[in-house]
Amino acid sequence: MRKHKIVVVGCGNISKAWIEYAKGRDDAVIVALVDIHPAYAEAAKVKYGLDCPVFTDLRESIRATGATLVFDLTILEAHPTVVIAAMEEGCDVFGEKPMAPSMAEAEAMIEAADKLGKTYSVMQNRRYLKEMFAFRELVQSGTVGQIGFITSDFFLGLHNGAYRETMDHPLLMDMSIHTFDQSRFITGKEPIFVECHTFNPAGSWFAGAAAAIITFEYEEGSCYSYRGCYCAEGASTSWQSSWRVVGSQGTAIWDGRHAPYAEVVIPTNEIVFENKHRRIDIEMTYSGKDQHGGCLDEMFDALNAERKSATDCTDNVKSLAMLHGVMRSLREGRKVKI
Ligand SMILES: NC(=O)c1ccc[n+]([C@@H]2O[C@H](COP(=O)([O-])OP(=O)(O)OC[C@H]3O[C@@H](n4cnc5c(N)ncnc54)[C@H](O)[C@@H]3O)[C@@H](O)[C@H]2O)c1
Repeated sequence: MRKHKIVVVGCGNISKAWIEYAKGRDDAVIVALVDIHPAYAEAAKVKYGLDCPVFTDLRESIRATGATLVFDLTILEAHPTVVIAAMEEGCDVFGEKPMAPSMAEAEAMIEAADKLGKTYSVMQNRRYLKEMFAFRELVQSGTVGQIGFITSDFFLGLHNGAYRETMDHPLLMDMSIHTFDQSRFITGKEPIFVECHTFNPAGSWFAGAAAAIITFEYEEGSCYSYRGCYCAEGASTSWQSSWRVVGSQGTAIWDGRHAPYAEVVIPTNEIVFENKHRRIDIEMTYSGKDQHGGCLDEMFDALNAERKSATDCTDNVKSLAMLHGVMRSLREGRKVKI
């Protein structure tokens, strides 16, 4: 059995999910922890009961341990440098979202992976839920007909948001990539234009814009309307957002918490009394792990099978392009091509 020797770089909040997952795999071992603040790596070593050295330099850690795989759990700004250095040192990389602070840096990461013959997969844990797979099946099977209008609502009051509270665009730069990626996963569609408006609602405890209203347009004229807010008190949606897909034959609904369903038009010859629509429930067949575990299983399966994972950088860059299209629309104050 191939044994993956893992360096974990970035030992902050999200490292718990990754380290605990890796400890549960027979074909993987964590050989080093890296952080620019060595105290964080030392603390993680104790907290997770690891028996491995701690470094402040990623390249040195790979050379000293013969690592083959790097988990990049650093902050967004560090992702390009960390990912490219890891691949140059001969490692494949699994990393946290979003890929990169700019499209130019994301393209450089993809180019490096291609040139060096390495893979780089990006965490999109919010795809990996049985309700999400069922909703996708409902939408892509044609049950509601041709897709015409997609909406998602994300309304939460995020307290203890740490660094997010001082960011210029906490909702967009921290969270929206999950929802944009989910829109691609659910519909299989790639938008071509975007227009965005952001603002900071009354009562917000964020310094930057905690709310956004965005319109994405697809080639054939259908639209995806995103509404989000990180400072919404009361009646919160789930972290998965609340979704509506309106098709030519009906509407598919997922509130992000319960089982998705659709209501579709009943053919005229089958109408009884006033009922014009029929409810369609869908079986939930996804039996994999939830969230990070599901995405990491897929990344390891792909690496072992020498194929690209579902969230390989060459695919994930399309979700990132939605985010950077939004940011460009804000800068230019108009609708832009993605
Ligand atoms: N998928 C999810 O649900 C999810 C949830 C939270 C965070 N994240 C993502 O995970 C990443 C980290 O977020 P976090 O909340 O753990 O942040 P954090 O600030 O808690 O941790 C980041 C760690 O990286 C270290 N670091 C920064 N630059 C480094 C570098 N160049 N080399 C080595 N170490 C470096 C920091 O010292 C810190 O310990 C971000 O990209 C974030 O968007 C994803």
